[in-house]
Amino acid sequence: MIPKAELHCHLEGSIPPALAHTLAARNGLAMPPGLMSEGGHYVWNDFLSFLKAYDLVCTTLRTPRDFGDVIYSYLAGAARQGAVYVEMFCSPERPAALGLSYGQWLEALEEGIERARREFGIEGRIIVICIRHLGPERALRMVQKMVAEPHRYVVGFGMGGDEAKFAPADFAPAYRLAHEHGYGCTVHAGEVVGPESVWAAIRDLPVTRIGHGVRSADDPRLMEELARRGTVLEVCPGSNVALGLYPDRASHPLHRLIAAGVRVTLNSDDPPFFNTSLGEEYDKAGLGEAELRGIARTAIEASFADEATRRRLLGEIGQ
Ligand code: ADE
Ligand code: ZN
Repeated sequence: MIPKAELHCHLEGSIPPALAHTLAARNGLAMPPGLMSEGGHYVWNDFLSFLKAYDLVCTTLRTPRDFGDVIYSYLAGAARQGAVYVEMFCSPERPAALGLSYGQWLEALEEGIERARREFGIEGRIIVICIRHLGPERALRMVQKMVAEPHRYVVGFGMGGDEAKFAPADFAPAYRLAHEHGYGCTVHAGEVVGPESVWAAIRDLPVTRIGHGVRSADDPRLMEELARRGTVLEVCPGSNVALGLYPDRASHPLHRLIAAGVRVTLNSDDPPFFNTSLGEEYDKAGLGEAELRGIARTAIEASFADEATRRRLLGEIGQ
């Protein structure tokens, strides 16, 4: 099995329907109406209805144990697919709404990460992620909390949500604070909005990675700039096809980005929503073994883990 590493997967978006049922049942909740189809799949039909379905899944999370079990089960599944390292986007919004403290939430995630390491040898890390459409003030407060209460598994800061809302520059104070405190930074851009969104992100934010960024392929000058800077794209082809950015994998720009010298990684984003997995992304990328191994190496190199961990993992996955 080809060794793998993942930089772009959302904790709440990693919850398979069966686990959502388990969480709801043990919390004495009914499944949120409208979330699940008769066939047992999440129901959504475009980017905004996907974000709504995503929010509904979050409501099945109630206790610290729930968060720990979710990260554990994702890491366990990824390890079975050959992953040695996964960075999860974890949003403090849901635990805060539940009245859990930031520390309680992180303790639960830490327990899940350590359980997965003990049982499967996989290394997990946390990227705290803000939600773009909730605005820059919340993002800044989130980073203030993150830097005031550091945790050894929290290695980065990112932003998801509705890319059409606000501008990257609005979030510069939050990103600057994270960057000044040594956190790696990434941002969703060039997914539902075109190359201008990626230009703004690399101009206004201290990011070394871009979540998706695939729309950069529409602008040769931008691909050149990303290659020059060595900016790494967290590419999620299955997600892009499911959300209708491209009609199929064959028309996805992954190969064009690689040909232009852009550094890319392969990721699953929100696997059960998009009927994919990390293993499938590697299997269906249309790349040979040497290229896939190179992609795993790029993911480790671009990860926000400390240098000793990166070096150890690079040694583990080999050439
Ligand atoms: N949150 C979870 N998945 C996302 C995606 N693909 N784009 C933006 N925000 C997200
Ligand atoms: Zn994402």
